[in-house]
Amino acid sequence: MRMNGATVSIDSVSRRFTSGEARVTAVDDVSLVIEAGSVVALSGPSGSGKSTLLHLIGAIDRADAGTITVDDVDVTTLSRKQSAAYRSRIGFVFQRYHLIPTLSVLDNVLAPVLPHKVDFDAPARAAELLAAVGLEDRGRALPSQLSGGQQQRVAIARALLSRPRLLLADEPTGNLDSKTGKEILDLLAALQAQHPMTIVIATHEQHVAERCDRLVRMRDGQVVADLTVTPGSPGLLADAAELRS
Ligand SMILES: Nc1ncnc2c1ncn2[C@@H]1O[C@H](COP(=O)(O)OP(=O)(O)OP(=O)(O)O)[C@@H](O)[C@H]1O
Ligand SMILES: [Mg+2]
Repeated sequence: MRMNGATVSIDSVSRRFTSGEARVTAVDDVSLVIEAGSVVALSGPSGSGKSTLLHLIGAIDRADAGTITVDDVDVTTLSRKQSAAYRSRIGFVFQRYHLIPTLSVLDNVLAPVLPHKVDFDAPARAAELLAAVGLEDRGRALPSQLSGGQQQRVAIARALLSRPRLLLADEPTGNLDSKTGKEILDLLAALQAQHPMTIVIATHEQHVAERCDRLVRMRDGQVVADLTVTPGSPGLLADAAELRS
């Protein structure tokens, strides 16, 4: 097994939705190769197709055309059962945390494995992850007793339980103040240093995009810019300013 994360190859992928009379091409003929171990920001205005593309990569939704392969798995042709197995091996952080309100923090981290009888030491791993996200003493709390940033940390710990080689994060800092958002990014960087993985982050925020290796900008379902981010490069700020417009 390769140690540096999954390679994601997206080839001519489209996803169309019909709502009432309206037809929307949420993802419109997108092709991208995301290198193993890279951290990629998906940016673009609201409705540009970022979440839809993440859902397609994560096999939460299915493309109407094109193929997506994650390492050697073609995620666009999986059966329902195969999709579930694939999803259990990747990490997905949702925009609104999606924690289960009636379960403790620790059980939320364990939620992906609770329905299955697994033989690895999931509770110890969950406790370790809670410590890694700085919440070792909150395992018995309910999600409603935590702040937004803390809930997002729980969601990240949950996403990492299966030691995924691919982490998909949809606006992981979108509901947080900028200081907490920065802490979440520091946390992701630290976790990636411990356990190499490919990370794709959908984000509106320029400061998030600037922390990534690569910035893919979407508009109307299409990729309209694709930049390699060089830390501290004078060109980046100009590029980022242009991307904001
Ligand atoms: N399940 C759905 N049914 C109908 N239309 C949908 C569905 N999901 C997404 N869309 C449409 O597809 C387009 C892309 O939506 P998407 O959620 O991917 O955008 P986004 O870039 O993630 O936006 P935001 O930044 O607001 O999260 C939008 O026009 C949206 O209305
Ligand atoms: Mg979205």
